[in-house]
Amino acid sequence: MPALGGRGLGEFFATIIGTFALITGSYIVPMRTLAILTLAAAASSASAASEAAEKAYQTDIAPIFETSCIGCHGKDGKKPKGGFNMTSLAKIEEGFGKAKKPAIIWGDAAKSPLYTSAELGISKPDDELAMPPGDKEGRKPLNKEQLEKLKAFINSNK
Ligand code: HEC
Repeated sequence: MPALGGRGLGEFFATIIGTFALITGSYIVPMRTLAILTLAAAASSASAASEAAEKAYQTDIAPIFETSCIGCHGKDGKKPKGGFNMTSLAKIEEGFGKAKKPAIIWGDAAKSPLYTSAELGISKPDDELAMPPGDKEGRKPLNKEQLEKLKAFINSNK
């Protein structure tokens, strides 16, 4: 009787442990996969612009900003207006204002304040979000061609 009871108990525990291992096994693996995927996603979205974007920025975009925007957004170490530093692509990607809202939504120029503000600067200079601001003497808004370049830059890069 004790021998039988012992085996029964042993089997009982083996079953419990087995079931536990099964549950934790099938639970832990997906959890770990999920954690890895989440980390990977976070890393890729937080990473700086790609090399291609940086190159395109230097050749196509920086000269435009130099003429139309930099005067108020960080030139010569001056405090940038609106908390928006435009002296490099990395700075631009840090965002604007106290909350550091994103200025670029890669792939979506229409949702990117960097683009929409410049677009308003041409189409609706009196809008309070227009850049350069409409009431500024000697403002140099983008021309249509520059605006298209900016749009393509945001839409075709990461
Ligand atoms: C004459 C100065 C001046 C120039 C030039 C200028 N800005 Fe601005 N910018 C400002 C000021 C002032 C603010 C803050 C506005 C506010 O907070 O209401 C601002 C804020 C911004 C913001 C944040 C908008 C928001 O919703 O708070 C963006 C984006 C921006 N500028 C983009 C540009 C771009 C792009 C250019 C060039 C095409 C440009 N700015 C040129 C003065 C300027």
